[in-house]
Amino acid sequence: MKKRLGIISFFVILFITFIVIWNYSYKKGLEEAYIPIKEQSLDFGIPSEKGVFTRAEFALDYLNMPVDEAHQRSLETYYDNRAYPGAPPSIPHELLKGERGIGGKACLQCHQNGGFVDKFDAYAPVTPHPEMINCRQCHVAQNTQTLFAISNATKIQAPKAGVNNALPGSPPMMPHGIQMRENCLSCHAGPAAPKEIRVTHPERVNCRQCHVPDIREFADVEIFRRTNNHQNE
Ligand code: HEC
Ligand code: HEC
Ligand code: HEC
Ligand code: HEC
Repeated sequence: MKKRLGIISFFVILFITFIVIWNYSYKKGLEEAYIPIKEQSLDFGIPSEKGVFTRAEFALDYLNMPVDEAHQRSLETYYDNRAYPGAPPSIPHELLKGERGIGGKACLQCHQNGGFVDKFDAYAPVTPHPEMINCRQCHVAQNTQTLFAISNATKIQAPKAGVNNALPGSPPMMPHGIQMRENCLSCHAGPAAPKEIRVTHPERVNCRQCHVPDIREFADVEIFRRTNNHQNE
């Protein structure tokens, strides 16, 4: 009788442990593999300007960081793997072993805050949009360099840097759109910033206070003639 009781309680314990462990792992499985997206605070005046401040906590570090000349990017290499200005760059490096996910944490471990990656001998550029966690929805891996034939399609010219000031010394206008680029310091500061556009003053933080988007429209006025209003009188 005692033996039987022993065996029964052994199996009861086993069963309870099974339920507990199964329950735990089931709950774990339900958890999102995402980095939680922060709740948007509603008290910010202009949402599109909020991004300007997102990386501001790094501004002083960026200012004091020595420039690593040997590993600088330039606008040329920046545009090398973009189909056209504003297009999502392709992923120029191999993916981590077994990397099948769509992105998220796997990519953010390098691209959220940047930093030097020995394996690729380069600084990881900081993503301006860490909240868009389905990275590979837009960024595709470069699987081949050879399959494509050279065509005579010309690339759309990128806007130029260094020519957007109204006067020498005045703040240049932004020659690019700001959708998905609200986070200025991710491209304009830090070791992965292309050298031509690395900002001398990351610590000023509120970039859009001085830099406005270039939305001028030009009309062809041909030869200008003053209309003489008195003629028709
Ligand atoms: C181990 C760190 C690391 C991981 C993980 C990583 N990257 Fe990168 N990534 C880099 C580095 C370093 C570079 C710069 C390479 C260069 O300049 O040659 C880079 C470059 C890129 C670029 C090109 C950026 C540009 O401006 O041209 C894209 C796009 C990119 N990575 C996307 C991803 C995506 C998507 C994932 C996840 C699937 C990912 N990366 C995972 C380190 C990483
Ligand atoms: C909805 C599409 C989309 C998603 C999702 C997306 N990206 Fe991007 N990404 C873009 C586009 C478009 C650009 C180019 C921005 C530009 O030049 O205006 C870009 C630019 C970048 C750059 C280059 C920044 C630089 O300094 O040159 C990096 C790095 C990057 N993305 C990483 C990521 C990572 C990591 C993820 C996932 C966490 C991700 N992206 C998710 C569309 C996307
Ligand atoms: C995805 C990367 C990226 C982001 C994010 C970004 N920029 Fe730029 N910016 C560039 C590039 C690249 C250029 C050079 C011109 C070009 O190719 O579009 C540039 C040029 C500029 C220039 C002109 C510089 C000159 O010398 O004429 C200004 C000013 C500027 N950006 C301000 C900003 C501000 C302010 C923000 C934030 C609202 C911002 N940028 C966000 C990539 C970026
Ligand atoms: C108080 C006004 C002000 C603020 C705020 C400001 N800038 Fe500037 N910025 C300027 C002026 C003025 C110049 C022109 C400097 C020159 O020609 O010597 C300039 C030049 C630039 C350039 C051209 C390259 C260079 O450094 O000369 C870039 C890129 C740029 N700013 C980006 C930014 C970004 C990104 C921010 C936010 C972190 C920012 N600026 C904040 C006034 C400002």
